[in-house]
Amino acid sequence: QFSKAEIDAAVQLLLKLKVDYKQMTGQDYKAGCPPSENLIVSNNGPAADDCDGEDLVDPWNVSASSTKGVDYDKLIVRFGSSKIDKELLERIEKVSGQRAHHFLRRGIFFSHRDMHQILDAYEKHKSFYLYTGRGPSSEAMHVGHLIPFIFTKWLQDVFDIPLVVQMTDDEKYLWKDLTLEECHRFTVENAKDIIACGFDVNKTFIFSDLDYMGASPQFYRNVVKVQKHVTFNQVKGIFGFTDSDCIGKISFPAIQAAPSFSSSFPQIFGGKKDVPCLIPCAIDQDPYFRMTRDVAPRIGLLKPALLHSTFFPALQGAQTKMSASDPNSSIFLTDTPKQIKNKINKHAFSGGKDTVEEHRKYGGNTEVDVSFLYLTFFLEDDEKLEKIKEDYTSGALLTGELKKILIETLQPMIAQHQERRKQVTDEMVQQFMTPRPLNYKF
Ligand code: TRP
Repeated sequence: QFSKAEIDAAVQLLLKLKVDYKQMTGQDYKAGCPPSENLIVSNNGPAADDCDGEDLVDPWNVSASSTKGVDYDKLIVRFGSSKIDKELLERIEKVSGQRAHHFLRRGIFFSHRDMHQILDAYEKHKSFYLYTGRGPSSEAMHVGHLIPFIFTKWLQDVFDIPLVVQMTDDEKYLWKDLTLEECHRFTVENAKDIIACGFDVNKTFIFSDLDYMGASPQFYRNVVKVQKHVTFNQVKGIFGFTDSDCIGKISFPAIQAAPSFSSSFPQIFGGKKDVPCLIPCAIDQDPYFRMTRDVAPRIGLLKPALLHSTFFPALQGAQTKMSASDPNSSIFLTDTPKQIKNKINKHAFSGGKDTVEEHRKYGGNTEVDVSFLYLTFFLEDDEKLEKIKEDYTSGALLTGELKKILIETLQPMIAQHQERRKQVTDEMVQQFMTPRPLNYKF
């Protein structure tokens, strides 16, 4: 047997190890729950990113050190995600029975976490659900905001699965100089643009955090579970929060985590805890879900899978993403055909040469040309796009002509969006935003 002194010494050692563990990982020690996944990689916090001339990517800032934009291969390594490679593309096509969306084929959705697991399960007739969201910071949405929704709509159609859309009006209230009423109103206005993307009301639930948090005991229980298992130290490391950030910001990541768990929506999943979740989002949202994936096993829930997109570049160039607060950096969903034309002609950064003679001789650079980049998002015809690339690179196609093609692609696309949005009534918004069963059996 052991003496009292021996037991005391062993207990002291154990306590010391727990303190060491917490210092090194930022988490409390829990038997059987190893610290996981890149969570404590100190170089993915924003503070570390500024100093070494690397790209800065976090939920609030995107800026690249090169005119070609962010180096996405490096980002995959830094974030510890996986590249969407040819093999995965082929699997998606095989399992869905559809040709991959051009966002996948062209590397606009370029990175993932656990997508193979989602497909494995789907092949065995185990379904999943989609979760995406939008921070409603103003009434005006721009074309870049549509990217995740256009893609999510495609996923909903080809896999025939339910979707939840989180409107983080609480987040925007905490981060911006806006009133609660304004944020809630932007939620409703933005929801109309989202609905105009064509989502099926029988398979889609759009919710305002300000409304749903208080209305759903199960959602709030998941928020609290996440809050208990993430320390201040961890969110400082992941999001770069400081001691002077308000406590609302510090606890907000738990609210963006909660929709990743099917038990947050008992009206949809009948209380099931184990329906897998797939989150299509821009890569800047990944920090939220690294955190979510880290806590999930510790609270007995499934890790969400992810599909990450690149950013939609600003008109001025791929170094930064479109911003709703700078009207000249973006094409808005409310722009008139004339505004679209003027903005592109005046502001779209060109990869062409300074004079026609030089351009004819040396050709343009499609890698930095914003008009060409936009066409990779919105011109669905692969052959046409390839021909434009060839002609621009050889100098046969001039910048003005390239811009004209983009203008003529965007004008009808945006006019059609405006037409569909006009058809969205307040009653329809109400329907989408009412907690209810969706037309799906799990
Ligand atoms: N934080 C996101 C934004 O500001 C909104 C959001 C909430 C989101 N949940 C999400 C985006 C899930 C993508 C996926 O826009």
